[in-house]
Amino acid sequence: MNEKIYRDDDVDESVLDGKTIAVIGYGIQGKVQAMNARDSGCSVIVGTRPASRSRSRREAEADGFEVRDYAEAVSKGDVLLIELADPAQPPVYAESIEPNLRAGQTLVFCHGFNVLYGSIKPPENVNTALFVPNAPGAFVREKYQNGEGIYGCISVDHDATGNAREIALAVSKVVGSTRAGVVELTFQQETEGDNFEEQILYGGVIHLMRLCFQTMVNNGYPASFAYAKSIRSLRSVIDVMDEHGIEDYLTGRSSRTCEFAVRTRGPRVINDEEVAKIFAETEQGIFARDWMQEWQLGMPQIHRLRRAQADTTMEQTGRDWREQFGV
Ligand SMILES: NC(=O)c1ccc[n+]([C@@H]2O[C@H](COP(=O)([O-])OP(=O)(O)OC[C@H]3O[C@@H](n4cnc5c(N)ncnc54)[C@H](OP(=O)(O)O)[C@@H]3O)[C@@H](O)[C@H]2O)c1
Repeated sequence: MNEKIYRDDDVDESVLDGKTIAVIGYGIQGKVQAMNARDSGCSVIVGTRPASRSRSRREAEADGFEVRDYAEAVSKGDVLLIELADPAQPPVYAESIEPNLRAGQTLVFCHGFNVLYGSIKPPENVNTALFVPNAPGAFVREKYQNGEGIYGCISVDHDATGNAREIALAVSKVVGSTRAGVVELTFQQETEGDNFEEQILYGGVIHLMRLCFQTMVNNGYPASFAYAKSIRSLRSVIDVMDEHGIEDYLTGRSSRTCEFAVRTRGPRVINDEEVAKIFAETEQGIFARDWMQEWQLGMPQIHRLRRAQADTTMEQTGRDWREQFGV
């Protein structure tokens, strides 16, 4: 690895001294980043929708934060962590964020999507950066509380003040990521890399787990056995591969039968050409276009698929399985 890895000692968080961090959106990431930054000694306020329309406002208040409507939080903040659901960002940005921006503020996104694809075009006189911890929110908090951190990335798309990188790195430090290591990417790499991974890795693995279960059940296997094979067995080996590497797992920690199965049959399961096609579609903005269209139409495909997949035999088996055998 020849990229620069930023750790705690490389980053001076004093660039945030005297500044107010306004966390705009208090969902999965907003909540944990706000809490970690506050526990690191930062002055943090939260912006949400008005109480009548916001699910998270009361939660932020109960967590002890000063909470304002989006527009007011933007005015009060110096560093604005944009933690809104991605498709919700453009209208909130147009209505409540952009009209209240002032020169020298820093926008820190948690995904480059809207900036890369032009749905949000920040003015020249503010910094446009991002910081993304590479994990779901709950894990970011758990690690922080254990004195650890989550590998993350920062990026600077526009440096208005001359120290946008230092500010993004300081944010990554107060959220805990420089404890593990932070690298610098471009907005394009972060956005397309994330979108590509979600399509092929999450999409592929989940489809494979379902196919494994259904094929076994269709061929007469007990559902509980098929379920254990399709989900639980993966859980333990992922941790081992993450800790020791794939080759160490295959040669030293799995059976020879497993090693033979993996090396000779695994590649037959995956269609490499389709993976390359999805990568190209992601780079061409086709995935982004389809997703924005889906959101604008009220997510018809997602609702239809949720309905079809909500209560399958596999889901029912999973509920029983967890009750019988624990989590
Ligand atoms: N989820 C993750 O673990 C994860 C990981 C890496 C990066 N990210 C990035 O982090 C950012 C935030 O994602 P998230 O998953 O944390 O978001 P989220 O939990 O789905 O939503 C965050 C906030 O968006 C607000 N919101 C939703 N729809 C809205 C609308 N139509 N108008 C106004 N506000 C609306 C919600 O406010 P109310 O409570 O008022 O409804 C909620 O508090 C995104 O850029 C995402 O790509 C997320």
